[in-house]
Parts: sequence; structure tokens; C-alpha cells
Amino acid sequence: MPTFKTLDDLGDITGKVALVRVDLNLPMKDGSASDVTRVEAVKPTILELSEKGAKVLLLAHFGRPGGKRSSVLSTSMVVGDVEGVLGKELMFIPEVSGPVVEQSIGILRNGDIGVLDNTRFWPGETDNDPDFAKAIAAHGDFYVNDAFSAAHRAHATTEGITHFLPSYAGRAMERELKALDSALGNPEAPVAAVVGGAKVSTKLDVLKNLVGRVQHLIIGGGMANTFLAARGVDVGKSLCEHDLTDTASAIMDEADHAGCTVHLPYDVVVAKEFAANPPSVRTCNVHEVAADEMILDVGPQATEALGDVLKTCRTLVWNGPLGAFEIEPFDAATVALAKTAAALTQDGSLVSVAGGGDTVAALAHAGVTEDVTYVSTAGGAFLEWMEGKELPGVKALSA
Ligand code: 3PG
Repeated sequence: MPTFKTLDDLGDITGKVALVRVDLNLPMKDGSASDVTRVEAVKPTILELSEKGAKVLLLAHFGRPGGKRSSVLSTSMVVGDVEGVLGKELMFIPEVSGPVVEQSIGILRNGDIGVLDNTRFWPGETDNDPDFAKAIAAHGDFYVNDAFSAAHRAHATTEGITHFLPSYAGRAMERELKALDSALGNPEAPVAAVVGGAKVSTKLDVLKNLVGRVQHLIIGGGMANTFLAARGVDVGKSLCEHDLTDTASAIMDEADHAGCTVHLPYDVVVAKEFAANPPSVRTCNVHEVAADEMILDVGPQATEALGDVLKTCRTLVWNGPLGAFEIEPFDAATVALAKTAAALTQDGSLVSVAGGGDTVAALAHAGVTEDVTYVSTAGGAFLEWMEGKELPGVKALSA
């Protein structure tokens, strides 16, 4: 794991200006955030800095405004939500550098918190323009990155700024990096990976990286159909990327060479229509899928066998549901395996790390979010980490 400085390495910060990169890219509904998990994640860092007497300035992007101001994408839209989570009033500052920021810092008292506007209103952010990064850095005494979910972007406030200020990982970043290291960086073997989701094409690099690093690769979701088709299974009208069956075969060959067992379902839940509890739903062997049926979940026998695989493992990394979990009864395999993983984690025999939007929702649906070792709310960053890539925002913190 890269070594990085944390808040423990800060000396006396009374009256110092902390520039803190957080992820306020919150899902919105009717003008307010529908999920504040990302704010809850950064709360300990913000409050710790505030309680130690720093003037805390939050830096964040919100959506993809393309280098221009947009009133609906101003971070002022989420200030109320952030105040709600922190239990403190914030000062909104409609700039990221210049005299307005300097004057605002003059008004803030030690321990106060300000929110700068959307960093992506300026093209220098996504261009990682050193002059832009330097202009922001000029307002701070030190920089803290607590936004793992934006660490796959080499942007001015995730990467460039670290060249101008002493830089530290915030508490959420620290926790995330430690959890990820225990899952794939330096895991206890045997390691299992669950990779699900609709399409193989979006997770090719993930699969290629994992076959060389895990002992068991469990493939679920629509992407399992492409692997089944590669093995000569007729998947009926299931979601399947037929043009990628050769790629799927190559991944399975690579897995064989690397000593990684690829687990595909051998019984499946199928239906003729994609709807809740459709009359046509049935369970069958993968070789019995009719031409007008779709595979929508892993069957009960294969699910039980997957649970047995997890019982032999010490580490699990999970990205993507096993079936169409948003609709009953196609959530059964995901829920059952999530519960097995949670029980093994609670028994102390498994370290379980999960991440990605659908996965977070699936674990919440199974009611086990609190029972797995770590759930990452990062989307793209989690995937890039699973692909084995070095994340620029993390690299920049490396001491
Ligand atoms: C996210 O929501 O995954 C992060 O905030 C990154 O957003 P981006 O994909 O627009 O860079």
C-alpha cells in the first residue's frame, strides 16, 4: 500500500486554512440530496479539523458543468444537506480563488467551515492546469483529500494542488485505502471476487486484472450469460454480448493458467418477461433455457454452492449484483450470497469489501450494509481500483 500522511501528522493547526477535497456529487431529488452517505463519510475529517481550530474550506465538484458556471450545479445546492449532516452552519463562497475567497477567509473564525463553488466551473479543474491549482492552493496552509470517489480523476483539486501544499489523506480516504489494501493489495488468501452487472464490455479490465489475483472469480448478472454462451450454452433471449464470447473464452483460459476458478451458474432463474413475479418465472438447468426465455438470476443450487466457496475463502471483493436484483424474485441469489458473506464476516472468517453503486444498493436491499467489512460508495474510482490502476489522487498523496 502506498504510504501517505494522515491528519495524525498535522501539528498545531489553530487558525490555519485547511483546503479539504470532498465529494459532494450527491444524487438530487426535488432540490435536495436523496442520499447523503458521501457527506456522512467526510464528516469525521471536517469536524476533526474544525475542532482543532482550523478554518476549513471545502473543495468539491458537482456534476459535469463542462468548465462553465451553471446555477443548478452550484455547490450552494447542497449546502443545506451538508449543514444537516454536520450539524453546523456553513459559509458558501461563490468562487474557488481570488479576492472573494481571501475576504471570506478573513471573516471565518477558527473552526468555521466554508464551501467553495463547484471546482468544475473552471476548465482548469479537469485540465489539471497548474496555474489554476496554484491559485487555489495560495489560500490554504495545507490540503486534505477525503474524496476517494474522485481519486481516479487527475484534476487540479485532486492531483495538481498536491504539488503546491503539504498534503494529507482525510479519515475517509485513510479508511478506504486500508480496506482496499486488505481486499486486493495485500489480502489473506484464498480470495474470491464477485463480479456482476449487465455487460462484460464495461468490466473487461476488471476481469483481466482479477484472474491473476484471486483464486475464485464468481461471475453473475447479465455478463455471466456472455460467459455461458462462450461455453456453448444457448442463453435464449437473455442479455448477452455475443460479439464478446471469444474475449470471455480468453479470460477463462487466462484464469485456468493462473489457477483461478471461474464460477458460472449451472442452474438459473428464467422468465419470458422482465417484470416483477411474472407468471412465466421458473428455475432450470442452464442447458434448458428456452429460446423465448431470459436468464434473470442465479439459481438456488448454484447460489448455495457459491456460499460454500465463500466459506473456504478469507477475503471477498464484490462488485455488481448476481441477478436483476431490483425486481423480485430476481434478487434472491444476490440477497442470499450477501447474507452468507455478512455472516462469515461477522464470524471473523472473512474480510469482505464491496463497492459500486448497484452493489451498495444490493447490500442495502439485503440488509447487510453494516455487517460486511467495508462498503465503498465510490463508483468509477472503485472500478478503476479493481482494474488494478493507480489512481492519480491516491498517488499524489503518497509520501
Ligand atoms: C462520482 O460520482 O463517481 C464521482 O464524484 C466522480 O464523478 P465524475 O465521474 O463526474 O468524475
